[in-house]
Amino acid sequence: MYQEAIEQAVNHYRELLLAQVERAEKLNNQAPLEKKEKTVIGVVGGDGIGPIITAQAERALKALLKDEIAAGKIELRTIEGLTIENRLAVGKAVPDDVLAEIKACDVLLKGPTTTPSGGELLESANVALRRELDLFANVRPVSVPEQGIDWMFFRENTEGEYAIGGKGIEIPGLLTMDFKVTTVAGTKRIARAAFEYARKNGKTHVAIVTKSNIIKKTDGMFSILCREVAAEYPEIQTDEYFIDIMSANLLKPAMRSQLQVFVMPNLYGDILTDEAAQIQGGVGTAGSANTGDRYAMFEAIHGSAPRMIARGMGDYANPESILWAAVMLLRHIGMPEKAEKLSNAIDTASKVCPVGTTPEGHTCQEFGDALVKEL
Ligand code: IPM
Ligand code: MG
Repeated sequence: MYQEAIEQAVNHYRELLLAQVERAEKLNNQAPLEKKEKTVIGVVGGDGIGPIITAQAERALKALLKDEIAAGKIELRTIEGLTIENRLAVGKAVPDDVLAEIKACDVLLKGPTTTPSGGELLESANVALRRELDLFANVRPVSVPEQGIDWMFFRENTEGEYAIGGKGIEIPGLLTMDFKVTTVAGTKRIARAAFEYARKNGKTHVAIVTKSNIIKKTDGMFSILCREVAAEYPEIQTDEYFIDIMSANLLKPAMRSQLQVFVMPNLYGDILTDEAAQIQGGVGTAGSANTGDRYAMFEAIHGSAPRMIARGMGDYANPESILWAAVMLLRHIGMPEKAEKLSNAIDTASKVCPVGTTPEGHTCQEFGDALVKEL
């Protein structure tokens, strides 16, 4: 009775598999990078609270980089058009002209973009950009010094459940299936990024997080390949934890200071980093770097907060998360002192001018004013 739907699904699956095989083969044959004279930083506002918080981060970058901008070493380029209205109008996660503008930049500072969920099949702009720019490492720091927390998360960013998340199979009225994809090259490069970070920063422990006891093929291979890479870093202790117990461990005071660097497949990283950010004070306090060999994109880890906009509270959006992303951007482009300066300014501004709707709370703009004074 379901014969026709099954045939269609099998054909669809074949196409998905072929496309993933092609992608995996390309990962093995990457062209080397050429060095550039000038760094172009694209600034993409996004949706909802995105343009409000991104404007303050842009202000901060302009102030910090004014000499480099004047000398033509850095360009800040505003990129319009990555809005939900525009994306729905052309029916594309990232409209072609916007993607071309983005690809002409080197790094991006990006505000959150709205993703329609459920039936509307428009893909998330984030996910599409991560794929298009091959931003394979999602790097998220979380730190709470007074609790001994100093964590760095390496979330695989282009594969796993996200690779073909919008392309599952359906036998109408009976079942649906989605897919998880793990490639050898994709796993090795995220593992290497995590272990290299650990080595360069004197970290002594890396936690591999999977559910390889249940998800045998994909997580199973992720686990084996991470252990293989780990063997090249004998000074670093490596342990594998399953995602469920790791979510509990993050809440366990005795474990917190032992955990340092984490490496994990995409969806687990998505969930665990929200939990970690909440421990730090909320998802609004954490920045996120999406890096690849050619491009890098820095963003807040939270969404576009449409409910906040609907309540007319957009001006009270907290820009800290995107500002932390800007700190990571500055480090990435080789400006650690400026990153430090911005980091200190965010700390000060958050004390003297906390954003919020309480009587002592300030607006996003006022936070930006306090911040720029420190730069
Ligand atoms: C994140 C976000 C994204 C994700 C959304 C906005 C697509 O939650 O960056 O963690 O799921 O990866
Ligand atoms: Mg998330």
